[in-house]
Amino acid sequence: MKKLVVLTGAGISAESGLSTFRDSGGLWEGYDVMQVASIDGWHRNKKLVLEFYNMRRKQSADAKPNQGHIALKELEKDFDVTIITQNVDDLHEKAGSENIIHLHGKLNEAKSSFDPSLIYPVKNNEINIGDKCEKGSQLRPNIVWFGEAVPMMDEAIMHVVIADILVIIGTSLVVYPAAGLLDYAPDDSIKYIIDPNIPELYNPIPNLNFIPEKATTGVEKLLKELKNTY
Ligand code: APR
Repeated sequence: MKKLVVLTGAGISAESGLSTFRDSGGLWEGYDVMQVASIDGWHRNKKLVLEFYNMRRKQSADAKPNQGHIALKELEKDFDVTIITQNVDDLHEKAGSENIIHLHGKLNEAKSSFDPSLIYPVKNNEINIGDKCEKGSQLRPNIVWFGEAVPMMDEAIMHVVIADILVIIGTSLVVYPAAGLLDYAPDDSIKYIIDPNIPELYNPIPNLNFIPEKATTGVEKLLKELKNTY
């Protein structure tokens, strides 16, 4: 089986009703992103950060996977598929995909702010001030914020460097290190970008194809194209 690696961003969840970040003018559901999604923001105002993620967690709990997520699961019949997602929602899981790497963490997990190895499921979709880990420190969302390292990056690179096919869906490719994954794909691998707004690329990428569509229709086109090619 050919190895197919998919990198997804907020755009794949847009048609499930979850808003992307950069399409909304620098504010994310009305919040300043650096206040709610950075380690400095957490130290400045923990209550605001928890409130923002409690709101997003509730939206995500109600959201259903769309045809884009579902078609990626279907690809597992014919390809060895690994999904690397920048999304913190669980729509790839809900669609049934087997191999998912969450580069930026998961909304439905809480983490100790003292010991990052202590991770818990979030109860009732909320983390509040006073919710503590077993060592007595405040719980925080298990999200990788601006200003923090991306622990899953090495594992993601290990998949991309041996990909036969790399598919990128719904990401503006402006947040590093995730955006740099494209540069790790082998020259002879086939690459596709599915996005109604094709992102700006800084390096020449061999064998790159654009599908300038939304995720739902774009992934359908991809499936047809892959069927004709393999
Ligand atoms: N289908 C496919 N792509 C879409 C759709 C859709 N229906 N709607 C919008 N898009 C595209 C936009 O054109 C844009 O290129 O999705 C992309 C969304 O870009 P961003 O909002 O920047 O999201 P993303 O690239 O995932 O952001 C990366 O930044 O905000 C931080 O940590 C957060 O993981 C996030 C990271």
